Formats: sequence, C-alpha cells, structure tokens
Amino acid sequence: MKAGLDLAPVDGAKVLVRVDFNVPLTDGGAVRDDARIRAALPTIKELIKREAAVVLVTHLGRPRGRVVPALTTAPLASRLSELLERPIEHSPEVTGPESVGMAGALGPGQVMMLENVRFCAEEEANDPGFALELAALADVFVNDAFGTAHRAHASTEGVAHILPAYAGRLMAGELEQLGRILDDPVRPLLAIMGGSKLSTKLGVITHLLPTVDGLCLGGAMAATFLRAAGVGTGRSLVEEDFLEQATAIQSRSGSLQMGFHLPVDAVVGPGPQAGPDQVSRCPVTSIPERDMLLDIGDATCLEWAELVAGAGTVVWNGPLGVYENPLFAGGTRAVAQAIAGSSAISVTGGGDLQAAIEGLGLTSRFTHVSTGGGATLEFLEGRSLPGVAALRDFTPSSGR
Ligand code: 3PG
Repeated sequence: MKAGLDLAPVDGAKVLVRVDFNVPLTDGGAVRDDARIRAALPTIKELIKREAAVVLVTHLGRPRGRVVPALTTAPLASRLSELLERPIEHSPEVTGPESVGMAGALGPGQVMMLENVRFCAEEEANDPGFALELAALADVFVNDAFGTAHRAHASTEGVAHILPAYAGRLMAGELEQLGRILDDPVRPLLAIMGGSKLSTKLGVITHLLPTVDGLCLGGAMAATFLRAAGVGTGRSLVEEDFLEQATAIQSRSGSLQMGFHLPVDAVVGPGPQAGPDQVSRCPVTSIPERDMLLDIGDATCLEWAELVAGAGTVVWNGPLGVYENPLFAGGTRAVAQAIAGSSAISVTGGGDLQAAIEGLGLTSRFTHVSTGGGATLEFLEGRSLPGVAALRDFTPSSGR
C-alpha cells in the first residue's frame, strides 16, 4: 500500500498540514510532553526537503470556539522550532488577512503555524465557509493528525473535500500498524485492556473478541467483571448497568486459545489518593469491604507476563491501575516491561498509556505506540474515522 505522501504533489507546493499537537503544557505554558510533536517530524521534514511551503494547523485543548490565551499554539511553534532547528513563524490568527499574508509570503522549505483552530467555533461545526478559508491558504492538504481523525471538523474533514488531500507519514503509519491488528496479526494475538470504565471500552472489546486468541482485563473495570462473576469487590468502581455485558463477554471468551483472564490478585486501598499506610495486597476474592481495587497484583503480573511471552502480537489499551499514584503503578509498569522484553509485535495507545510508557523510557521497545486516544479506540472498534475517510488517495484496509 502506497502511503499518501508518495503520491502527493507537494514538491514546491503550498501545503496545509493538519497535525495533532494537542499536548500537555506545564503551568508556565511550556510543552510538557512533546511526543505528538516529534511524531509529526517525519512528514514536516519530508515536506521541507521537497521544498514545500508548510502551513501547519492544529487544535490545543477544548476552547470551544473562544479565544483562550492559555491555549495559544505559540509554545507549540517554539518547541517545533527547537526540534527542527529552524524558525517557525506563528500567526496570531487562524484565518484572516494576517494568515493569508504570511502564507502567501512563505517560501519553499519554510514553515508557519496558525493559531489554535478551535478558537473558531466554525472548526468543530465543520463550517463549509471556514473550510474554504483554510483551503485558500494552500494548494494541497496533508492530514497527519491521526489523533483527531475521529472528529469531522473543518480542518480534518471539511478541507479534505476542497483540496487534493493525502495522508502524512504518521497518519499512514498509524493506519498500517493498527490495521494489521484487525486484519493480519501475527498469532497468537493477546489483547490487554485496562482503564476505569467498561462502558468506554465495550466497543473495542466486542470488536476485538472474534479476532483475539487471548484477553486480559485489568484496571478498575476488572471490578465490574468480578462483580458480574459474583465476587465481592468492596468499594470498587462497579458499573452496575454493565454487569450483563460483562457476563456476555466472559462467556463469549470461553473458547479462546490463550484464555480469558481477570486479575487474580489486587493492590487495594480506600481511594486513588491513598497513602502507603492505607494500601494492601490481597487475592481478588478477599477485597476488604472498605477498599477498592486500584491495581493488579504481583501474581497477576507474573501470569500476564507469561502470556505476553507466548504471544505473537500484543495489543494493549488502557492502564492497569491508577497509574498517577506510584503506589498503584506497579501493574502497568510490570506489564510494560514484560512486553518490552518480549519478541511479540506490540501495539499500544490511548493518551494515558502512551504517557506511562514514555515515562518508563520504553517507547522504543514497542513496535508501535499510537499517538491517538479516542481515535485509536474508535479505529479498534471498527468505526470509520471521518478524517481518514475524506482522504481521497488512501485505501484503508477492511473497508475502513
Ligand atoms: C486527543 O487528545 O485525543 C485528540 O487531540 C482529540 O482531542 P479532542 O478529544 O478534544 O477532540
């Protein structure tokens, strides 16, 4: 499959590039984690090399159509400028005379960044007039914002119907790696799912179930499965409305070659902010009434590490405990290390997990760490992503 940029007429052209630089900032407004900016560098560098004039557009946060000074894209332009070791001009507006003037004056190999596209209410409304204004800044559109591909917004979807539109390197890589999980995984395929709520992961689990050879369920949502199986879970977060679905998933997983696995033991405490004196470890069958399940325990980590060692591919979504509190980060860390040390193809993603793996310094030991959060989930749910569907030259697999 040819990636979009191979086909794109970008040489010497003016190119509007949608990136997803929606990154965490420090209290002082500087970039705290630049992983998403670094992930877009291959596309930007290639465009510079091909003497394109590059107009970058991104959102940052959720300003909901208002100008929120703390969410300006200026610090993103500064960080990109450091990474590329070249000046990046920053337009103080999204569309308008200043942006038009700056884009018009941009020479081959030069790069500029527009102000936060979500400062304009027309962006999320996918307003056709606004999409035209964005399109007027360039001759070709490249979408490298996989993380925002599940949004049908003017800068992700609308503009792709106006300009010739192509997938950037990051977008193409994400679709290829995640697509392989659904279409042609090296077997056996083990899925490890975490996170706090089954309701948010139900679509992914249901879609992956016919494809996977083994399923491990951790995070707080494991408590919903344990409760459905009749196990007492103390004060754990249980989604009472999803007990039936949990039972259905468990019974549908009965014949999986690598099995269906809930935690056998847990790290528990009175709440996510618990201190060292309040934390204990126990089998999941004896979670104290006053406590909640906040991480998977050591025996579970060992069992899941063995499963990882026997897998051809591991797909992992969602932390396995309340990772932000170091007392409940052990399960996520142990499984990340097991995957990093295995020979399995490993694909993971979802905002929290990406940051956790980056924090452990293990990113390079994974085959693919997706930059998407909601987009990765929707892709693995088998849903069509509007930002991808609008790219005319891209031929996604399995009809996505
Ligand atoms: C993300 O961080 O998942 C993407 O940038 C999309 O952001 P959104 O959920 O605010 O649309």
